[in-house]
Amino acid sequence: MTKKIAVLAGDGIGTEIVAEAIKVLEFLNADMALGFEFENGLIGGAAYDVHGTPFPQQTIDLVTPADAILLGAVGGYKWESLDISMRPEKGLLGLRSTLNLFSNLRPAILYPQLAAASTLKPEIVSGLDLMIVRELTGGIYFGQPRGVRVLENGERQGFNTATYTESEIRRIAHSAFKIAQKRNKKLCSVDKANVLECTEFWREIVTEVGKEYPDVALSHMYVDNAAMQLVRAPKQFDVILTSNLFGDVLSDCASMLTGSIGMLPSASLNETGKGMYEPIHGSAPDIAGKNIANPLATILSAAMMLRYTFNNEAAAARIEQAVNDALDANVRTVDIYSEGMTKVSCSEMGDAVVTALKNRS
Ligand code: IPM
Ligand code: MG
Repeated sequence: MTKKIAVLAGDGIGTEIVAEAIKVLEFLNADMALGFEFENGLIGGAAYDVHGTPFPQQTIDLVTPADAILLGAVGGYKWESLDISMRPEKGLLGLRSTLNLFSNLRPAILYPQLAAASTLKPEIVSGLDLMIVRELTGGIYFGQPRGVRVLENGERQGFNTATYTESEIRRIAHSAFKIAQKRNKKLCSVDKANVLECTEFWREIVTEVGKEYPDVALSHMYVDNAAMQLVRAPKQFDVILTSNLFGDVLSDCASMLTGSIGMLPSASLNETGKGMYEPIHGSAPDIAGKNIANPLATILSAAMMLRYTFNNEAAAARIEQAVNDALDANVRTVDIYSEGMTKVSCSEMGDAVVTALKNRS
């Protein structure tokens, strides 16, 4: 049976990194007869340029029936002066919310070969393997009302609203507890319950849901402390559960533990396991078009797609092994380069992963 993968490369380095992930998926598609069919669509600034909106109907029609979505990145200088409702980022947020992709998994794993690339001491990060579970369709990202208004005294005020309904918290908590059950059975929920009512409520509901998972050790941490602990002693964490905004910030922070933000993949899932897969980094307009971006986060996102949407652990593991083999072959894009290694381009890194796949098939 054919499986449809919608491919939304987006903006900036998006096209370069997605091309490498497609190389890898095409190889496995042929090698393992996976039955994948790829169809390209537009999102973000690229969609705005053609259709006048960052999330056009054509893209909605493409992603809605698709089995999975592979996305590059959105955004760039070119669109920064547009009204916020037309910015490339709105395309991505529209996609997440239209498909109800509330459960965002962001694993931060240190490949031992990259211990020297991390800005932290090797003993702090070696063996690091943590999973951030970020709520993705609620919180202050989507809360109403929002905007800029004029107060009675004539001064302008910008405002956003942080909201979480009980059901939104329950469903992401269940996702996180289930993931923790399959890992080391440790879950740390991150909030700001000492200041924000919305997240005090978050803590209350997560604690309630936790009673259904007596085998998982639940702890709570304020987000400021969590940011500090992530760089002080990151290996104390197994699974981190947090809100949309805190997850955005903490996952960028966690990525540097692994050597580069160019290494972190993600999966965004709905209730049924349908998913969108993208690197956690942005479109990096400063290096776009130079063929120097690191495609590994996108390639590893493709591995997550095989695991979470297509339940093909063997194929997912083959990609992860191939990334490991490519790093063993000492090839490095510039972001993870260290002395004695071979500096390669984005496409050469993609080739190195395909070569590694071939060598083991
Ligand atoms: C991310 C990104 C997005 C977010 C942007 C591009 C809208 O930073 O996926 O982490 O804030 O969620
Ligand atoms: Mg982010």
